[in-house]
Amino acid sequence: MTEPLLSVRDLSCAYTSRSLGPFGKKEVKTVLNRVNLDIRAGEIFGLLGESGCGKTTLARCILGIIEYEGEIFIDGVKREKIGLTRQLAHTRQLARARQAQMVFQDPGASLTPAKKTGGLLEEPLLVHRLGTKEERLRQVDETLIQVGLDPSYKKRRVNELSGGQKQRVCIGRALILQPKLLIADEAISALDVSVGAQILNLFRELNEKGQSILFISHNAGAIEYLCDRVAVIKAGRLLE
Ligand SMILES: Nc1ncnc2c1ncn2[C@@H]1O[C@H](COP(=O)(O)OP(=O)(O)OP(=O)(O)O)[C@@H](O)[C@H]1O
Ligand SMILES: [Mg+2]
Repeated sequence: MTEPLLSVRDLSCAYTSRSLGPFGKKEVKTVLNRVNLDIRAGEIFGLLGESGCGKTTLARCILGIIEYEGEIFIDGVKREKIGLTRQLAHTRQLARARQAQMVFQDPGASLTPAKKTGGLLEEPLLVHRLGTKEERLRQVDETLIQVGLDPSYKKRRVNELSGGQKQRVCIGRALILQPKLLIADEAISALDVSVGAQILNLFRELNEKGQSILFISHNAGAIEYLCDRVAVIKAGRLLE
């Protein structure tokens, strides 16, 4: 057996909220309770569960953008948690970004409407200071093709795109950094059924070319269609 790409060990996560009133106590709500999960390289792994059960929270933990207890390894490397005060060195930030990237539920909300597609795709490369202008533009073209859009789309503004096209751009923005793991959190639930089916097929194509994917959804049908293996999450616990 080869080492898993993603390995989650005894992951627990809780949100603290303050209740109202002068004597308001801090309330701690456990969202994830000792979750264990392994994803192998090259597979599409489905995470299924009803609304509010902690799927997005799990994804946030994997990205390392919230506090958690337990350990997360990607390719055998332990995930570092980012403290709000501590800035990681640039090379380490880049290494982190290349481990996992996420595609969010609502493509409209994750893109600036007035910006051009080309600029949005180039942005992650600029943030990580990668390549020359020429290399970046070539990578933008390649990424557009990879997500099923013609390279001429780089001149279009976001508000001139359909919902499905926007989601393709979001997927492109995640893919352009060549992450080991692509996390899709409800990536089709804001889309029309037929457009959603096209995006599902895009995930399948990407996977056939070797991309490892964690596909999060409350849609059992989509998961069954797409995924090699499935875990069901219920009340913060993971059931197979
Ligand atoms: N920042 C936060 N502070 C406090 N509680 C939160 C916070 N974010 C989420 N929660 C709570 O944690 C629980 C799990 O939320 P999460 O977003 O992980 O659910 P989910 O499984 O992704 O749901 P959905 O399918 O609707 O996206 C919910 O009950 C939610 O109300
Ligand atoms: Mg969610």
